[in-house]
Amino acid sequence: MDMLKTVKLHLHNNKPKMAKIHTALIFVYVCSAYFFILACARDVPTNSYTLLGHGDATPTGSNFTFVCDPKRYSSLGLDMTKFPFCDKSLPYDVRASDLVKQMTLSEKVLQLGNTNRGVPRLGLPKYEWWSEALHGVSNVGPGTFFDDLVPSSTSFPTVITSAASFNESLWKTIGQAVSTEARAMYNLGRAGLTYWSPNINVVRDPRWGRAIETPGEDPFVVGKYAANYVRGLQDVEGTENFKDLNSRPLKVSSCCKHYAAYDVDNWKGIVRESYDARVAEQDMVETFLRPFEMCIKEGDVADAAKGPVILVLFSAGGLDIGFAKNNKKIGGILWVGYPGEKGGLAIADVIFGKYNPGGRLPLTWHEASYADMLPMTSMPLRPVDSLGYPGRTYKFFNGSTVYPFAYGLSYTQFNYTLKSAVRSTHIKLNKFQHCYGIKYRAESHIPPCPAVRIDDMDCKEKINFEVEVKNVGDRDGSEVVVVYSKPPEGLDASHIKQVVGFQRVFVPAGGSKKVKFVLNVCNSLRVVDYNAYSVLPSGGHTIVIGDDITSFPVHVNFSG
Ligand SMILES: *[C@@H]1O[C@H](CO)[C@@H](O)[C@H](O)[C@H]1NC(C)=O
Ligand SMILES: *[C@@H]1O[C@H](CO)[C@@H](O)[C@H](O)[C@H]1NC(C)=O
Ligand SMILES: *[C@@H]1O[C@H](CO)[C@@H](O)[C@H](O)[C@H]1NC(C)=O
Ligand SMILES: *[C@@H]1O[C@H](CO)[C@@H](O)[C@H](O)[C@H]1NC(C)=O
Repeated sequence: MDMLKTVKLHLHNNKPKMAKIHTALIFVYVCSAYFFILACARDVPTNSYTLLGHGDATPTGSNFTFVCDPKRYSSLGLDMTKFPFCDKSLPYDVRASDLVKQMTLSEKVLQLGNTNRGVPRLGLPKYEWWSEALHGVSNVGPGTFFDDLVPSSTSFPTVITSAASFNESLWKTIGQAVSTEARAMYNLGRAGLTYWSPNINVVRDPRWGRAIETPGEDPFVVGKYAANYVRGLQDVEGTENFKDLNSRPLKVSSCCKHYAAYDVDNWKGIVRESYDARVAEQDMVETFLRPFEMCIKEGDVADAAKGPVILVLFSAGGLDIGFAKNNKKIGGILWVGYPGEKGGLAIADVIFGKYNPGGRLPLTWHEASYADMLPMTSMPLRPVDSLGYPGRTYKFFNGSTVYPFAYGLSYTQFNYTLKSAVRSTHIKLNKFQHCYGIKYRAESHIPPCPAVRIDDMDCKEKINFEVEVKNVGDRDGSEVVVVYSKPPEGLDASHIKQVVGFQRVFVPAGGSKKVKFVLNVCNSLRVVDYNAYSVLPSGGHTIVIGDDITSFPVHVNFSG
């Protein structure tokens, strides 16, 4: 199941009534089909791993690096001109359908799954689709191996750690470096070209160990990570802006995994392969599918010690370290996730003050008691009052935490000043755009036109504003400015707040930087209602910058 993931996802915003779990299944199949066409149609080279095998690896790697190499065909005793799918003058779709047409049913069946058997009579080689590159090319997948010639690849910090930087260009740069190594290994016959990475399952529960593989609990942040990492892996330098996505070359092929709403590996004997995850469409649209959508579109040492102690924590996700927070001997706490191969140096640089950190938590650090309040198998993000379950993630949990989502310190301090900001947006509805009723809590004021469904709107309206970030300390440093939106008061069962933007900026000590945000009104103020419709509610929304100190209201008004 680990290999089941999605590559292409067309979110049916206009069909929110889609079947729940079936949706995820469909994605999986779209994914395999996409790869298949890719391998056949795009001159994706043969996987030389399968040609060579571990035993006979040579220093020069494989003899051939792509399928439709005339020399390869002649070495197989086949006439390549007899196979239109190898004719580069034909469009990809024609070549792909030719290949599929030439295969018998049993030959097709042998190409399903991770390990493709190839079709010798057509010159189609074996191929192992499963390679992994979450934070460096890894031999977890059978499509990749290390040996004397290539003993290792770069191990970057695990994803949850890189996510904490909230630095989009860093995420993309890591993807680029990983795919360069992947290509090099491929050319030497030691890796595949298809990677079951990134893992963009939103972290729903603090007990999930595989949180380490992911960018955290916020669908927007996870989606941004996905978009950057995928572009980093896939783009060939100089071809990033190809309009026709079907002809854009791929450096390697990435795959956003796993099943949406999948994040129970083994909890009290309940395993992911058989667990029946009951997911509301509302949560599916709002939380679990959002990153996929974005992916496609775009130790207790203190007491014994005498002096001050710096607690360095290596962990997949959050831990209840209340004991350390309140221990005066602990002068600092540094969470490093699982850092990459340069982790030791990086930790030293931070502890000794050479580098000023500026990360933020990509997930909530819960108190241990949180895990006693609800079973891991409860899928709803919202609180379940009837069962006494609290909400999940910062968007729906209002209780106390060890550290909240997006918490992070640096050796300096930053102050925000809000500059220009648009405070209201007036949207005139045409005759095809209708007011849509959404649920308000009892005794709340309900506006005459409570909301409009986003599918019905043009969604051109923007909210522009600028935040001046002043470094008021005495160390240069980077600050992550996180922007949230809060829905109008009284709306029933909506999120408390949601991330709608973030930027990491470097500001020298004593200096300041203006950070500009342009938010799309529909994307940033939307609410997913009980029927899983994305709607724009009218009334008083709030844009919050960082903690609650800086904020401004945005009024949405509809008229006929
Ligand atoms: C590569 O070519 C050499 C020389 O032509 C041949 O002996 C060898 O078997 C080939 N290896 C593979 C994996 O095809
Ligand atoms: C973001 O990461 C890049 C590396 O890709 C680095 O050069 C840059 O300084 C980082 N930005 C900030 C503001 O820290
Ligand atoms: C916090 O959430 C709980 C549901 O988990 C709810 O009963 C309670 O009213 C909320 N408290 C506040 C202050 O919003
Ligand atoms: C920065 O903000 C804090 C809290 O808002 C305030 O106490 C402090 O005086 C500000 N410092 C500067 C230099 O503006």
